Amino acid sequence: MKEKIDKILAKNSLKKDDIITLLSTYDNDDRFKVFARANQVKEKYVGKKVALRGLIEYSNICRKSCHYCGIRACNSKVVRYTMESDDLLNASMLALEKGFGSVVIQSGEIQNSLFVDKISQLLNMIKSKSDNQLGITLSCGEQKREVYRRWFHQGAHRYLLRIETANRELFNKIHPNDRTHRYDERIRCLLDLKSIGYQVGTGIMIGLPGQTLEDLAGDLLFFKQMDVDMVGMGPYLEHMDTPMYAQKDDLLPLNHRFNLSLLMIAVLRLIMKDINIAASTALQALEPCGREKGIFAGANVIMPNVTPLKYRDDYILYNNKPGVTETADRYIKRLEKNLKHINEEVLYNSWGDSKHYKPVASNNRLWYRGLLMQSTN
Ligand code: 5AD
Repeated sequence: MKEKIDKILAKNSLKKDDIITLLSTYDNDDRFKVFARANQVKEKYVGKKVALRGLIEYSNICRKSCHYCGIRACNSKVVRYTMESDDLLNASMLALEKGFGSVVIQSGEIQNSLFVDKISQLLNMIKSKSDNQLGITLSCGEQKREVYRRWFHQGAHRYLLRIETANRELFNKIHPNDRTHRYDERIRCLLDLKSIGYQVGTGIMIGLPGQTLEDLAGDLLFFKQMDVDMVGMGPYLEHMDTPMYAQKDDLLPLNHRFNLSLLMIAVLRLIMKDINIAASTALQALEPCGREKGIFAGANVIMPNVTPLKYRDDYILYNNKPGVTETADRYIKRLEKNLKHINEEVLYNSWGDSKHYKPVASNNRLWYRGLLMQSTN
């Protein structure tokens, strides 16, 4: 196995079989070899600095009922909230003050015009109050192209929308089979976001029931084919008030899910050298230094939660979500200390844009349309 790993790591481009072999790495020495190679690549293409985004969980209202997610519409135990605008503005300014450089506004999926207008207003307010110093990423689900365009022109420059799994069949298993949860609609959104000019991020969950290493390799190749600028992925973690909880006994053990998530990050770094890769909060649910380990494996972005504490109990996507009582200040102190041990440092006062991003050339649009046609066939 050792020689096989060395051979694969020396290659310039990886085939699906190579990826599967790397993802099956079990032995600690071998895994560390993969991480070391990913780190070399990271150092060369993006540097050893960790960009920060202050994560603001703006609203837990959601029209969807994804089988895995704690804030699914059908979960009547959730106390629904939307943050006061002032709370959101203060959280954004706190992020700026702490030198985070950018924020992510995340919410459940809401499509009505009140919500769309509200986000527009908030974008304007953050931009003017921060004197355009704060970068803004949105993560507000599937929307009409027109809405994405409007938000883009109002100053959002990055958008996160996870595909959750690139395998259409598995996607259909983990979502209700109705018009609100459609694989093709996700793809349409990602393509629209790209062609509008956003830096686009997507991602998946690792260790879903029935998910194979071949599926995961397919996910990495999907990111490459979509030519995304950013990826956020982490372990799937059960939530007891969701339908997928019933499959809890069919899952990989937690430590295996954790290790596989680190390998996914490392292999992604090898195949998409200059993109932004986030070390997800879900990693931290499994290990106290989970996100730092994600950085060690090849990620370069961390999103500390800056949501006011009073809202945090109501944005629980999975059991044991970490950071419910931790302020950003306390987390950053710990992060700085931990990063020193792995020879990394925090990148302060920067938007931390993806080095991979290229503004869209108009002839690319046709290509994207072609891809969309393929996906719907
Ligand atoms: N386990 C891990 N990640 C989850 N998410 C939602 N529910 C879970 C869960 N049970 C992730 C999804 C979504 C992101 C906001 O949170 O990938 O896109």
